[in-house]
Amino acid sequence: MYATELVEALADDLGVTPAEVVVGNGSVAVLAHVLQTVVEPGDEVVYPWRSFEAYPIAVAVAGGTSVQVPLQTGAGLGRLDLPALAAAVTERTRVVMVCTPNNPTGPVVHRDELDAFLAAIPSDVLVVLDEAYLEFVRDPEAPDGLAVYARHPNVVLLRTFSKAYGLAGLRVGYAVARPRLAAGVRAVSTPFGVSHVAQRAALASLGARDELLARVEHLVADRTRLVTGLRDQGWEIPETQANFVWFDLGERTVQRAEEARAAGAVVRPFAGEGLRVSVGEPEATDLFLRVSATWR
Ligand SMILES: Cc1ncc(COP(=O)(O)O)c(C=O)c1O
Repeated sequence: MYATELVEALADDLGVTPAEVVVGNGSVAVLAHVLQTVVEPGDEVVYPWRSFEAYPIAVAVAGGTSVQVPLQTGAGLGRLDLPALAAAVTERTRVVMVCTPNNPTGPVVHRDELDAFLAAIPSDVLVVLDEAYLEFVRDPEAPDGLAVYARHPNVVLLRTFSKAYGLAGLRVGYAVARPRLAAGVRAVSTPFGVSHVAQRAALASLGARDELLARVEHLVADRTRLVTGLRDQGWEIPETQANFVWFDLGERTVQRAEEARAAGAVVRPFAGEGLRVSVGEPEATDLFLRVSATWR
């Protein structure tokens, strides 16, 4: 019912027990199940904004109240404001989301700021570390999620096969949580929820780590080329550790997305805010750099 073979393989891979791993139809489903497990109507869920667009939906469906905390601006453009997230916690708060790297802006939180943040969070408030883009992270100051989880019983990790593994269409993600919470999450999960095909694909991917790492390494190299190219053009873009870069284009966002599309580069507009540009084939990086040069 609960993808036992995959759960056991993941537990083995991560160095935790199978009782601490829950899988679901993508990490977005697992997040919804985590929230359903702990959020009562009217409870608050604190999260950074802008961040992953499923957060407000999952909170609303769980009956919770969203408390959105703005990202940093200026020198910390696009970074989570961890002191502000901690300050937003009240007696009604059940969960705080920490998206690292943050979608759609790209920066990671750093070990020291996360330690200070966790020290400020009451032990009965869950902290969900959403590590969907973990495999792309190269910043030596980024935290080791499993080590953080080991030290803090109120931390839950969310991970996915959708990004670096390239299996988004098959829908497999998982949470790592203490056994009592994991049992609660399993209890609200759809039985037989992860298809057999998705389980086999995830298991095969776990067994092909070298290919995965090689593919991710190529992508990270092209990310560096894209970021360097953009900075050389004079753009101020956040310090991305994900497989995308963020352009703070405000009111010009939709028009720029349309211009990029017309030139052959599909990018993701967030109307009135900015563009998220994913790192794709090297040819796409070259093409996008030509487009962005015309915008300066
Ligand atoms: C930060 C973050 N978390 C989770 C997800 C969900 O991924 P999935 O449900 O495919 O595992 C995404 C996908 O865009 C994401 O950006």
